[in-house]
Amino acid sequence: MTELIDGNVHAANVRARTKVRAEAFAASHGRKPRLDVVIVGNHPASRAYVSTKTKMAHETAIDGRLIELPETVGKDALLAEIARLNADPAVDGILVQLPLPDHLDGQMMIDAIDPAKDVDGFHPMNVGKLFTAAKIDPEQMLIPCTPLGSLMMLVDTLGKGALSGRNAVVVGRSNIVGKPMAQLLLANDCTVTIAHSRTRDLPAVCRQADILVAAVGRPEMVKGDWIKPGAVVIDVGINRVATADGKSRIVGDVATAEAMGIASYITPVPGGVGKMTVACLLHNTVVAAEARAR
Ligand code: GUN
Repeated sequence: MTELIDGNVHAANVRARTKVRAEAFAASHGRKPRLDVVIVGNHPASRAYVSTKTKMAHETAIDGRLIELPETVGKDALLAEIARLNADPAVDGILVQLPLPDHLDGQMMIDAIDPAKDVDGFHPMNVGKLFTAAKIDPEQMLIPCTPLGSLMMLVDTLGKGALSGRNAVVVGRSNIVGKPMAQLLLANDCTVTIAHSRTRDLPAVCRQADILVAAVGRPEMVKGDWIKPGAVVIDVGINRVATADGKSRIVGDVATAEAMGIASYITPVPGGVGKMTVACLLHNTVVAAEARAR
């Protein structure tokens, strides 16, 4: 029997706790915690993600604002916008939605964000803290949202300490998911392998995993026979694929139907990790607001 890990339930719990803190912050500081999301251009999936982020912010007693810039915005104009948000004392969190159009350097923009307002946890200062801290504490540092949400679901599902000594395989080496995810699993005493497009015999590497995290952005790439019986599978993929009737649907990086009956637990797509990403962003916004107010 494979159990689904319900991202909606886990995310609702995180948001409920975050809302209580956001309301307490507003009561003592006379303003809500505030998250400003910058989106450049008209990438349809990105636009859908950012509108979810600001909508969920409002439902969580956070002042979520969307700053929409044209596809053609120049480097200096975007840097000026980030500088304006850095300087605005009412802004607690700044998120620049990635990917940016090709003429803009995403890392340059991340580097320009005040690390205290970097609710994505992508600034080199926050990345450095994540990789060097003696203890990883989501109350004390800004941790990338998708890995943090994935780890929270693992710990809540398996129990604290259950990760210790397990083989974890992370497929994907991005700065947004793969690398920070590996670091969080390492901090929880897993033996961690980071696999990627050049890994030799990827199915065999995946079959070693007690915990398998798929974060590659390739629809249903991880097949049922890549999964060790009883493994816990975290599917980070959100891929839109065409269906026979000319419509489309969202699938993960794991062939979920094949995994059923093999994995012990799996996160569904949709309704899994994606919901937790947004919930953790709101958590990080309140952590940033509280830290800035101290
Ligand atoms: N694009 C895909 N995921 C993310 C994310 O977590 N943060 C930002 N800023 N952009 C993304």
